[in-house]
Amino acid sequence: MTAATPMRPEGTAADWTVPQDWKRYTPAEHALWDRLFARQAAMLPGRVAPAFLAGLDVLRLSKPGIPDFDELSDRLMKATGWQVVAVPGLVPDDVFYEHLANRRFVAGNFIRTPDQIDYLEEPDVFHDVFGHVPLLADPVFADYMQAYGEGGRRAGGMDAIDKLARLYWYTVEFGLIRDGDGLKLYGAGIVSSFGESRFALEDDSPNRLGFDLRRVMRTRYRIDDYQQTYFVIDSFDDLLRQTQETDFAPLYAALETQADLDPETILPTDRVITRGSQTHARRHSA
Ligand SMILES: [Fe+2]
Repeated sequence: MTAATPMRPEGTAADWTVPQDWKRYTPAEHALWDRLFARQAAMLPGRVAPAFLAGLDVLRLSKPGIPDFDELSDRLMKATGWQVVAVPGLVPDDVFYEHLANRRFVAGNFIRTPDQIDYLEEPDVFHDVFGHVPLLADPVFADYMQAYGEGGRRAGGMDAIDKLARLYWYTVEFGLIRDGDGLKLYGAGIVSSFGESRFALEDDSPNRLGFDLRRVMRTRYRIDDYQQTYFVIDSFDDLLRQTQETDFAPLYAALETQADLDPETILPTDRVITRGSQTHARRHSA
């Protein structure tokens, strides 16, 4: 994920990357990765999109523990032409988009501490690699991520960036996808979280609405708790098509005239899959 204007830390290259320096991880850090991986890999089958499970094999490298990005990139390059590059933390939007547009995924090179096993504020290597990389091995989703980066490169001003960030948030980070009569997870923020993996799919609290690109771009989101609304795409093909076929400049101009929507809002025009009780959000704001 991104932030508006962090300062480039000393020791980073002009594109904000750093060597991953895999050898510096401690046995405890590798063990924490293995523990998180095992917990999610046991819980996700049946809940996550089949493409994610297929892509998970890309992360099963020659040695256990935190993946070595060089080895991981070799495998991913063969699958879809993507690479994983290390960064020390959040990077500015323009840097982030430039990497995506060139099929490079930026991943934090640090791992959370054991007391942050269920919650952390800045994305670490487990969120970035376990959450994001499996779908980068899917050809259609891989193209969507590049298309998103190209859209970001063209977006220009801050208002447009904010709206585009909502598209990323409600798809790449917190998206759900139709699977026959049911729903499955695919967003990295969900699938890397033990709690939200169950909440997003099974809890009565959140809304689940059919994905609509323009509507999503109007919708604010929560960064401090589980989402109040999840948007459900029909397929990765449809998500890619909508992103490629949308002329974003006039869309941004049109959205300027419309008010932003609160995260829990349901509009008469929404395709409602689940009307949430919002009990979780109310309990936590009390
Ligand atoms: Fe992420």
